[in-house]
Amino acid sequence: MPTARIVYASTHGQTEKMAGYMAGHLRAQGVDAKALDVQAAALSEQWMPSDLLIIGGSVYVRRFQRVLDAFIRQHHAALNAHPNAVFFSVSASAANAHGRDAVSALVDAYLASVDWQPRARAHFAGAVKYPRYGRFTRWIMKRISRKEGGGVDTRFTYEYTDWDAVDALLSQNMPH
Ligand SMILES: Cc1cc2nc3c(=O)[nH]c(=O)nc-3n(C[C@H](O)[C@H](O)[C@H](O)COP(=O)(O)O)c2cc1C
Repeated sequence: MPTARIVYASTHGQTEKMAGYMAGHLRAQGVDAKALDVQAAALSEQWMPSDLLIIGGSVYVRRFQRVLDAFIRQHHAALNAHPNAVFFSVSASAANAHGRDAVSALVDAYLASVDWQPRARAHFAGAVKYPRYGRFTRWIMKRISRKEGGGVDTRFTYEYTDWDAVDALLSQNMPH
């Protein structure tokens, strides 16, 4: 049975939800797939032997989570040696074409800086979860969302993830 590991960092849960969705989708296709929080993955070798390795994190003030960054820097040789490693970003910007280009440039610069060239990279829109934020973050995110044409009613969570695009990434990288 082919194996897949999805290592993720998620601050407000959307990337975690996407990693869980990916694992479920792959399992339904007969793949031994597991989603692993990067903190747990860092402590175990469970992510190592896999036919498909997917690594993802979300963008906070133009950066990925520190734990994810540390993981990638520590393992960049193993990641570069992996024949089927994929990186995905989750952000608010990727909800529109202009923002997606900006995230794509940001991710390219980031991956160059950590010296990792994954076989594929994808940029997905995440979610804006106003009820989960403190007052200041809620205010900031409302300002950004207004500018970007996103939802601004702070009673709600707005999910922008294109699940068909997530399916497409998996179809393109299905392990054999
Ligand atoms: C404080 C804060 C800062 C953020 N900074 C950015 C950013 O610089 N660029 C961007 O595209 N999205 C930004 N976002 C949006 C997140 O990337 C988006 O909400 C994503 O879905 C979060 O994923 P997670 O739930 O897995 O943490 C920010 C969100 C918050 C709350």
